Amino acid sequence: MRVLLVGSGGREHAMAWALCKSPLMDELLIAPGNAGTAGLGENVPVSDADVPGIVSLARDRSVDLVVVGPEVPLANGLADALGDADIKVFGPTRAAARIESSKSWAKRLMARHGIPTAGFATFQSIHESLAHIDTLPEGPVVVKADGLAAGKGVIIAESRQQAGEAVAEMIHGQMFGEAGSTVVIEECLDGPEVSVFAFVDGRTVSTEVAACDYKRAYDGEKGPNTGGMGAYTPPEVWSPALAARIRAEVLEPTAAAMDAEGSPFRGILYAGLMLTTTGPRVIEFNCRLGDPEAQVLMPRLDSDLLEIASAVASGRLSEIDVRWNDRAAVCVVMASGGYPGTYVTGKPITGLENVPEGSRVFHAGTAVADDGTIATSGGRILGVVADAVDIASARSNAYDAISTITFEGAEYRTDIAARAVDAAIR
Ligand code: AMP
Ligand code: GLY
Repeated sequence: MRVLLVGSGGREHAMAWALCKSPLMDELLIAPGNAGTAGLGENVPVSDADVPGIVSLARDRSVDLVVVGPEVPLANGLADALGDADIKVFGPTRAAARIESSKSWAKRLMARHGIPTAGFATFQSIHESLAHIDTLPEGPVVVKADGLAAGKGVIIAESRQQAGEAVAEMIHGQMFGEAGSTVVIEECLDGPEVSVFAFVDGRTVSTEVAACDYKRAYDGEKGPNTGGMGAYTPPEVWSPALAARIRAEVLEPTAAAMDAEGSPFRGILYAGLMLTTTGPRVIEFNCRLGDPEAQVLMPRLDSDLLEIASAVASGRLSEIDVRWNDRAAVCVVMASGGYPGTYVTGKPITGLENVPEGSRVFHAGTAVADDGTIATSGGRILGVVADAVDIASARSNAYDAISTITFEGAEYRTDIAARAVDAAIR
């Protein structure tokens, strides 16, 4: 098959690596890709945000299947445009991508179908928001921008006063643009968080798999939110009973609800959940793989990703046995100094060839410089990944590998998966 993978992050390098293991793969194009994907296929300089450009590329190069990594092109209707051009696509339509692109739509879907989530109300006016906040008990309140905000549209307000300020900032401030013109005010939940993923072809929900990610920039959950500084799998709280419960209470009802309401979901459904004392509850849905969760999950996928993606695209997922192995995996993200604020790019990366066997590096913001060397070109640069029989070995292998790689200003967290290792010892 000739495949076009859309995106340029660490998630896409991990997906490209998994796709290339398939005996069905003849040729891989990546738009726009990074220095890592350049080693697996042909990078084509078309932006992942350019919907008509991606459709033309797929048509001109007679692509058999387009696999979409990030959420923005999905929210902008890339899957619909490819469908109109009769090109097979792995990824949800614009209507189905609302599960991520509109938090208020997702919340209302959950409310209609009894899918467990935090209590909520949605508003477009400050006045009504403040009146609602006044009715809430004193204590933390969660305020969210409705639309896509690259993981940064959530404020956990410590008091009603702070919640009011957050609402005013979202509705009137410039920070969130259109994404903030509707706000969701939510009950604040407590408990461990897990991200659960399953392939869905509209009806069939594959075997699920879980991971944990780290959103804050610095050790000990300090600093600003980022796209994700590390991940591990499986979560220490994961069990067959919990997986079965999440499948029965969240994944299957959500897929069935979307199908019944005329926007069937085809792609990877990502449920961010909080495990509260009263059971798992949905914090958010995403319409794609997580980044950096993909980097730890792809090594655990024993089935053929290309076969799965192509089955999802044609509604044949029930014919495929999706198997995840029971190894543990850890990903530590190396970022440019200053990320997620301002940072400098163009720094040469050295030591990539010294990474020990058993570990691998998925590139994110990297580019091949004119002299053929690899240099930094973004905020998150590399995901250093190790998989092993247990989480302690995976973690120590990932950190051993990271110590072999250098670039000026490199920053990474030193506590990724530490709590899972502690839990395994206890
Ligand atoms: P989101 O972008 O929706 O994943 O939210 C970012 C982070 O905010 C989540 O990973 C949670 O840690 C936190 N969060 C979101 N919603 C809630 C909630 N209702 N209660 C407590 N924490 C939340
Ligand atoms: N790592 C969180 C996300 O991909 O949304």
